[in-house]
Amino acid sequence: MIEQPRMINICDVWEETPDTKTFFFPFEGPFTPGQFFMIWIPLLDEKPFTISYIQEEFLGITVLKRGIFTQKFHEKKAGDSIGIRGPYGKGFELQTDLRSCLIGGGIGMASLATIVDRLHNVTIIQGAKTSSELLYRKRFQDMNLCTDDGTLGYTGTTVDVLNALLEKQRFQKIYACGPERMMYKISEICKKHDIEYEASLERYIKCGFGVCGQCDCSGQRTCIDGPVFHQQELIRMADFGKISITKTGERVIHP
Ligand SMILES: Cc1cc2nc3c(=O)[nH]c(=O)nc-3n(C[C@H](O)[C@H](O)[C@H](O)COP(=O)(O)OP(=O)(O)OC[C@H]3O[C@@H](n4cnc5c(N)ncnc54)[C@H](O)[C@@H]3O)c2cc1C
Ligand code: FES
Repeated sequence: MIEQPRMINICDVWEETPDTKTFFFPFEGPFTPGQFFMIWIPLLDEKPFTISYIQEEFLGITVLKRGIFTQKFHEKKAGDSIGIRGPYGKGFELQTDLRSCLIGGGIGMASLATIVDRLHNVTIIQGAKTSSELLYRKRFQDMNLCTDDGTLGYTGTTVDVLNALLEKQRFQKIYACGPERMMYKISEICKKHDIEYEASLERYIKCGFGVCGQCDCSGQRTCIDGPVFHQQELIRMADFGKISITKTGERVIHP
């Protein structure tokens, strides 16, 4: 049966970057980092978002302004209501004692933020196009930052930073979320160095509970089999990093 969205009131809004805001709302119930909620704006649409903050009985969602839906979301203020259903999907399987590395590309960092404090020995790599897009600079002070345009940190990608770190140290587990090509390249590195790997895929999600097939990646439904997949599953998914499905169902091959 389709779960109906329930209306909740936004209780706080934080500006994270010029294009990114975090919306806090009350939530009680179990939630695994990496799972997502479907957020409904009445008369507009419903879209998936992960939880980026867990604070006692409040959760936070960090939203990057991209298109019509996220622009309308950014207009919401404390006291306004949104519809919510979930949590859905499979989150991260945390192995807290391993030497871990978290790799966030762009807004992908939001999905990893709630696991930072749960890992005992963690290195964070965050990449963005430019410095003003880097997230949580005050929240996590010790990050390896990189930007495409060199405005902050290393000039280059998170993959370059990971390769440089691996020349000096070893990680036992890597968690990643970001552009799929980035996650694919990290998967290849993990294969080469025999590192455990989990990645959260961003496929187009419509229903969010496994019936429409829109979020397919080689027979795996991102909404219920993922969004977090293990290396063993990613290796078997021929579409991972290579083919995506648009909102109209068209298969697009990425060079
Ligand atoms: C599991 C999951 C978790 C996500 N968590 C976050 C998050 O925490 N913060 C955040 O800012 N964004 C998150 N996203 C992406 C977010 O859902 C889209 O950015 C948002 O739907 C864009 O809508 P729009 O109308 O503003 O932009 P549009 O102009 O419609 O789309 C811009 C881009 O957003 C992506 N997108 C659009 N609609 C969807 C959809 N229904 N499902 C998946 N991707 C879509 C596509 O890549 C598209 O090219 C997540 C996506 C997934 C799949
Ligand atoms: S979004 Fe419908 S099956 Fe996954």
